[in-house]
Amino acid sequence: MNKNVNQVTEEKVKKATTWKQDVEIAVKQFLYPWKDITALLGALSIPYINKGFANLSAIQSANNIYESTLKMLQLENTPILKDLSANGILTGISYFLLLYGLSKPYMLNNRAKDCRDLKITDNHTESGNTIIPIRKVKSFKNPSVRKLICYSNGVLAKDFEEDDKLERLSKKWGKFVIDVEDYKSNKLIINYKKHKSNKMLFWKNDYLLKDDFKIILGINDKGEKKILDFNIIPHITISSASGGGKTTLFKSIFMQSYLKGAKIIIADFKGGLDFNKGWDRLDKERCKIITDVKTLWDYVSYDLPDIANERKALLNHYNCESAKEYNEKIDKGEIVGEKIQRIVIGLDEAAQVFIKSKNKDEEEKLQQIRGKIETISSLYRAININLVISTQVPSSSVLTEAVRHNSVLRICGRANKILSQVAIEKDIASTISANDRGRFATNEDKDCFFQGYLFYEKDVFPELKENK
Ligand SMILES: Nc1ncnc2c1ncn2[C@@H]1O[C@H](COP(=O)(O)OP(=O)(O)OP(=O)(O)O)[C@@H](O)[C@H]1O
Ligand SMILES: [Mg+2]
Repeated sequence: MNKNVNQVTEEKVKKATTWKQDVEIAVKQFLYPWKDITALLGALSIPYINKGFANLSAIQSANNIYESTLKMLQLENTPILKDLSANGILTGISYFLLLYGLSKPYMLNNRAKDCRDLKITDNHTESGNTIIPIRKVKSFKNPSVRKLICYSNGVLAKDFEEDDKLERLSKKWGKFVIDVEDYKSNKLIINYKKHKSNKMLFWKNDYLLKDDFKIILGINDKGEKKILDFNIIPHITISSASGGGKTTLFKSIFMQSYLKGAKIIIADFKGGLDFNKGWDRLDKERCKIITDVKTLWDYVSYDLPDIANERKALLNHYNCESAKEYNEKIDKGEIVGEKIQRIVIGLDEAAQVFIKSKNKDEEEKLQQIRGKIETISSLYRAININLVISTQVPSSSVLTEAVRHNSVLRICGRANKILSQVAIEKDIASTISANDRGRFATNEDKDCFFQGYLFYEKDVFPELKENK
């Protein structure tokens, strides 16, 4: 198997191109997608340009280009739109398309340069290998993921696995590059998420805090770590408009909880799409991803109450107020037994649970689930069971009042003033711009803004590293 991969690599490297061939490919692809053909056809209509623009009084009455430009810009004096004939508009469009077509190889070359700078493989040519983007497509499976199809020129997907290449490429592009796959002959697909800000913070396992049970949410505007202590704040809510970074922050909390030894239970009714990058290969005893109502209902109706009762009985027996006190007594040798493990339960897009279902059977189950979630949020803090809820709008029509009240820390990403008020009782989250993905404000008084972390599952979970 390995030999095969090496042979393929060798073949591909032999075929790999020099920069001259790269240019040839770039020129060829100029004609590839239909958009470029449209651009070319548009350009063919350019001979009409003189006729089209000659109608403009701004041009007719001007003595030179400078004057005509100035006049064209003074829209009230020169009603440009009235003057423009249909022919003129068409010609303008054709010019725009031509410029778009002509600038494309330049844009693509710039993108390719980022990959070349990473020296993805060394094929002993002067310029190294250059992957050349061909076209962008959207993923049907997960619409927030985009795919960039490229000529690979001898570069294989596995070349991106070394070191922190994905991270570096992400930072260079200002996009979150998820992974790279081999595609047909001599092609690659780069899967990425659109992201215009360059304020990306990448998580490293060295950051993990040893204290029980502190999680780093991100970095605040003073450059300090924003810490969540589950012993003090047992339940939190994360809100934002779509794409504000809720799931990413949610995942970062669960990733750290798992690495610190907690049991994590995640309900994601978006089909588990956000948790398909290896979460299913984590220790099954400690990581449960629930993607349907029935399984969640089973868990909160049977498994969880059993665990809770067992824990309460244990605390009563040893006269402890909380699992924290019980675990500390074990540390001191005052009690002999196993420590009470932390369980962090999460609902991503909680509206799916809290909003009424039209299906009667399902609604019955959902109603019971809502009741159980209220119980978790009001009674389980002492027994080391925490709750993390993410939802676009944390209003009382989405979450029940009890769940809202018990969420001591509330976090809000990009939002309008109304959503921000509902989520954190002040409108400051509305100052977070569309480009500030992963930036959040909290309901606290001081230093309430922070930037969350991004991470690659394969880099942080030891189980996935071993499988590589
Ligand atoms: N901390 C971050 N730093 C940089 N980019 C981020 C961060 N968090 C999220 N993003 C980017 O923002 C985009 C959306 O993130 P995410 O899916 O977490 O948002 P969401 O609020 O859960 O969206 P949805 O409402 O669609 O579920 C992703 O493309 C991701 O790359
Ligand atoms: Mg999400």
